[in-house]
Amino acid sequence: MAKFDEKAKPFSKQWLDDRLAITTVMKVLNIEYWIPKNINFLWAMGMILAATFGMLVISGIFLLMYYVPTVEGAFDSVNYTIMTEVGYGWLWRHIHGVGASLVFLIIYIHLFTGIYYGSYKRGREMIWLSGMLLFVLFSAEAFSGYMLPWGQMSYWAGMVITNLFAGGSLEATGFVEWIRGDYVPAQAFLGRFFMLHVLLLPLVIIGGIGFHFATLRLPHVNNQDGEEIDFEASAKLWKEGKKKESQVIPFHPVFLSKDVFIMGIYFILFFYLVFYNFEFAMDPVNFDPADGLKTPAHIYPEWYFLWSYEILRPFPTDLGLIAFGIAQVIFLALPFLDRSPNVAPASRRGLFKFWFWALLLDVLVLTFMGKLPPQGIWNTIGFIAAVMFFVLWVALPFITKLEKKIEE
Ligand code: HEM
Repeated sequence: MAKFDEKAKPFSKQWLDDRLAITTVMKVLNIEYWIPKNINFLWAMGMILAATFGMLVISGIFLLMYYVPTVEGAFDSVNYTIMTEVGYGWLWRHIHGVGASLVFLIIYIHLFTGIYYGSYKRGREMIWLSGMLLFVLFSAEAFSGYMLPWGQMSYWAGMVITNLFAGGSLEATGFVEWIRGDYVPAQAFLGRFFMLHVLLLPLVIIGGIGFHFATLRLPHVNNQDGEEIDFEASAKLWKEGKKKESQVIPFHPVFLSKDVFIMGIYFILFFYLVFYNFEFAMDPVNFDPADGLKTPAHIYPEWYFLWSYEILRPFPTDLGLIAFGIAQVIFLALPFLDRSPNVAPASRRGLFKFWFWALLLDVLVLTFMGKLPPQGIWNTIGFIAAVMFFVLWVALPFITKLEKKIEE
């Protein structure tokens, strides 16, 4: 440890270093945190996610100042007080709604980027698992938030999802009533989802993001060619001034400037949507207050849950529930189901390249079908796509086992 300097001016660099080791922390987390040169804009998605989460927290704090968590007051506090009475209340609400939708778009891009480049393998399994944990947490956060305006879709989505726990012997144990705190979604239900949304889940998400970042530290991020980089040797070259020969760049300030540039473009789109196109993030049916006696003609979730909803829908109740449960967690198993030794972009990987595009297409088809009423041809297509989803996952270990090792 460097010598303690008693004469250092309060809050000068030396003074802070003596107490908080600021320079060391900056080195470990930023200046000597090495990123491969060979990566494209898709590697900015992680920081964009962190920034969008930040926007959700800030806008959420402002909304919380006027939101009333009671079945009598919730709907009006959101649609009347915040939207019309409170100065710029509409702006915070639009930011929160658009942010909640975009965060899922970016999560899906981030997740499929990871699959495409094989970033879940060879030492990166914990990055993948912690990422999936964040996906589950964000899903719970979005669902609990959707309950809060206490509109028709809040109520009936809450009813449908909690009804999933009303099957078989669960029904006899009164499990669904235990979750709701009542026979139907009512005050106890709103109160607990409110607590989850504004306190417990955000806290766990913040911890989850910290853990996800920590898992990146040892294996470092992957790169576009799945090259195995000797980070220590490359970092040494950079520090010696041989920047061209080095395969890496420091996170701060070199990589960060690229991240911030891409983030700038993202936020132009973000605020364009906030000001001019926020309707896409708000379901018109949810502008009717919750009414337990009036079931909407067609109940569906937000777009980011449609694919898993469509996996649930075409099967008989119990089977649908099992299928839905498996679909939620199957991505967790990816690092263990992919048996190929190659860390490489899908385009260079035998049958996996078809598997990747088939999975992406299947999830898109499921998403579109989930929005349509379950009738006629849409039902059949939805059923085929749901079966296909499982066929693809079952096939994965076999097709990756066949894959030949790519020689460098
Ligand atoms: C929702 C909150 C999330 C945040 C804030 C976040 C943040 C980040 C950041 C900053 C990085 C490093 C830069 C980059 O590759 O973009 C990263 C990498 C990674 N994340 Fe996430 N992430 C989140 C969710 C997820 C999810 C849902 C998954 C999917 C399972 C995931 C899987 C990965 C993987 C595999 C990498 C490594 C990429 C590589 O090595 O090339 N993350 N994440």
